[in-house]
Formats: sequence, structure tokens, C-alpha cells
Amino acid sequence: MARTFFVGGNFKLNGNKKSIKEIVERLNNASLPENVEVVICPPAAYLDYAVSLVNKKQVTVGAQNTYLKASGAYTGENSVDQVKDTGAKWVILGHSERRSYFHEDDKTVADKTKFALDNGVGVILCIGETLEEKKAGITLEVVERQLTAVLAEVKDWTNVVIAYEPVWAIGSGLAATPEDAQEIHASIRKFLASKLGQATADQIRILYGGSANGSNAVTFKDKADVDGFLVGGASLKPEFVDIINSRN
Ligand code: G3P
Repeated sequence: MARTFFVGGNFKLNGNKKSIKEIVERLNNASLPENVEVVICPPAAYLDYAVSLVNKKQVTVGAQNTYLKASGAYTGENSVDQVKDTGAKWVILGHSERRSYFHEDDKTVADKTKFALDNGVGVILCIGETLEEKKAGITLEVVERQLTAVLAEVKDWTNVVIAYEPVWAIGSGLAATPEDAQEIHASIRKFLASKLGQATADQIRILYGGSANGSNAVTFKDKADVDGFLVGGASLKPEFVDIINSRN
């Protein structure tokens, strides 16, 4: 079964009403392939606004983080229910910036993933190694450890998309080569198959993230296990449309 090409736009802590309107209008006016799933993830303050602007059937909105509780005395947190209430359908969890700056460990990421899925929000689950871990030759060990934590909590992976984002490639301008990405993605799928069965593993989209842009996206086109991209900086620019169109 063919996996639908998936492109996420992680705006991170960027944007305002003006720029988000420009980005969404660019997508609304663009000619996009029929068979693509695009998820734009603005800062939480603009979720509702972004949802109100999108009028393209291929495009939905996602959050960049959610908490483990639906409501209560948790100042500053994002509730899954409230995110869903805005009309957003997805959340990015486990991003390396959350893991490093906000000290989210594997177990926290796993618990947040379970909570979001149990409450009807799809999860873009980020995994990936640091430069030190890459140099130490433990890339697979790291991503398997990150996945193992989630596998312990999540049994149904239907609404999970995995984003392999090597930390050294994020915002560095130095993307993984398509060959290297394919090799890691294939290993991730093999690992998932060993835990969830081949049929389930074959249905899970595995995105590449880290300095993907309008020029290099097309070079991943023939890589069988690269099912799309999670895009940071370039998702704020017109070239985001080129990334979305890179499979055609
Ligand atoms: O989540 C996307 C991301 O971390 C990659 O960022 O700016 O390298 O595309 P960027």
C-alpha cells in the first residue's frame, strides 16, 4: 500500500498574524498535488487563526507541543483538548529542541504521545541523534531507544508519523544525504517491523527533517523509505510549496 507523501511545516517560535496569513494564503493559492498531506504547525497562539485561514483540502494545522493533562493547574501548558478545539489535527512531539531546552526525556515524550493519540490528535513523533552520537556510531541505538520508549506506551500507530531529524542537520544548512537518510529510514522501518509486524511498519510514514529546502527536497524523490519532510526554516518561505511539489 502506497504511503501518502506528508510534508510538515514547523514554524517553531516564529511568525505573527501578518506572516502566518501570507504563508497560508500562499498555500491556498498554490497548485498542490492531490495526493499530499500538508500539516502546518504555527505557534500555539496562532493555531485558531491558521485554522480559520486554511481553505485547501490537502492542508491541516498542527500544534508544536501538548501536555499530559487535558486541563487543570498547569500554567503555560498546551492542552490536547484545547488544541483539538481550535480545529488542529496534529501535534509535533519529541522535537530535539523540546528534548534539549525543555528537558523532555524519552518517557515524557512517550506519555505525551499516548495522551495525544488517546484524545484524538495525530502525532508527528521526532527522533534523531546528536552530532556526538553520530560520531560515536550510535545513531541506530539512539533512535531505537527513543522509539522503544514510545512502543512501550503506544499500541496503535495508525495516527503516528515519525520524523527522523538528525540534530546536527537542524537549522545548519547541512542536510543528510538522501542515501544516508534512506539507510536510516530503512533501518527504522525494519526495527518497527520487528516490534509491530511488517504490515504495520509498511504503513507508517517516516519523514526526513533537517535543512530540507526547495532545492534539495527533489533529491530524496526516489528514496523508498523517505515518505516526506518535516521542514523548519523553509516552511516560512515560498520554497515550502516547492518541497510539497517535490514528488511530482
Ligand atoms: O522540525 C523541523 C526542523 O527541526 C528542521 O528545521 O530549519 O533545519 O528545516 P530546519
